[in-house]
Amino acid sequence: MFALKSPAKINVFLEVLGRRSDGFHELETVMLRTGLHDVLEFRSLPGTSGDPVRLKLMNPGIHNSNFPLDGQNLICKAAKRLLEWTWERSHNDQPHPSAEIWVWKQIPAEAGLAGGSSNAVTTLIGLNRLWRLNLSRGELHQIAASLGSDLNFFVEDVRAAVCRGRGELVTPVECGGSFHFVAFRPPVGNSTPAVFSALKIPPADAQRTPGSVLDAIRRGIPGLLEKTAFNRLTDAARTVNPQMADMMEIIERLTGRPALMSGSGSTCVLAARNRRDAIRLQSLISMIPDTASMIITV
Ligand code: C5P
Repeated sequence: MFALKSPAKINVFLEVLGRRSDGFHELETVMLRTGLHDVLEFRSLPGTSGDPVRLKLMNPGIHNSNFPLDGQNLICKAAKRLLEWTWERSHNDQPHPSAEIWVWKQIPAEAGLAGGSSNAVTTLIGLNRLWRLNLSRGELHQIAASLGSDLNFFVEDVRAAVCRGRGELVTPVECGGSFHFVAFRPPVGNSTPAVFSALKIPPADAQRTPGSVLDAIRRGIPGLLEKTAFNRLTDAARTVNPQMADMMEIIERLTGRPALMSGSGSTCVLAARNRRDAIRLQSLISMIPDTASMIITV
């Protein structure tokens, strides 16, 4: 039995370069791996030919619709895909291995923090070890890409990266310091497909590039990151989730800082200048009734 952390990401830059013939969008995005994480604990079960994974939730009080424990969960899909790639190709006639995975959930769902994608990659890495499958990082990348667009970042196990294509082509970036963000979100999450359908793709000459954001990350300058962070999906997400739009406006007015949406939302962050600044921003936000926030460190 062993446990692995499953980290959340935030996007500090996201530009949409166009719509592709497969229905996805061509992206250029900068992702940071955060200190906010779930924990997945892996336990072997005696071999069966039933479900490869039995999923258990450690925290009480999480609603099943936010974290299904059946085949709908990306953890179960990842385990199934892993077996299709390995066991079923070489040992088709023998019972496959199985495992119990206990999850300690901290990352909220539909939040733009890739909690589900991160759990799926942690599952691929954990089961590769538990079942001694010896898959290479390249093979894990291929399986990850078949499960969704923002899984591959987590396969790389780096603090920062530029992701292109659908999001699955990952180029690691050196991260020269630590960054503190104050994250807040409305009670309702955003559906990623709904946000992409509401998007107006910018013409090529209006598209942004991530140069200054990458400079801020490499040199570890939070003030530069605050000024240059950008997410093209923000306006579309505001129309999909007016509660998020209101919250961003109120918090921007109260703090005098730009709010940045992560991924397709609904989590938004303020990029703080240091830990003290993050605590100050968080206490300002706490003055707004029913508005929870948390400090996320990178
Ligand atoms: O790949 P993933 O499951 O994360 O994508 C969820 C949805 O988000 C897709 O079905 C698509 O509607 C949208 N999407 C997109 N372009 C991307 C990534 C996601 O249109 N690059």
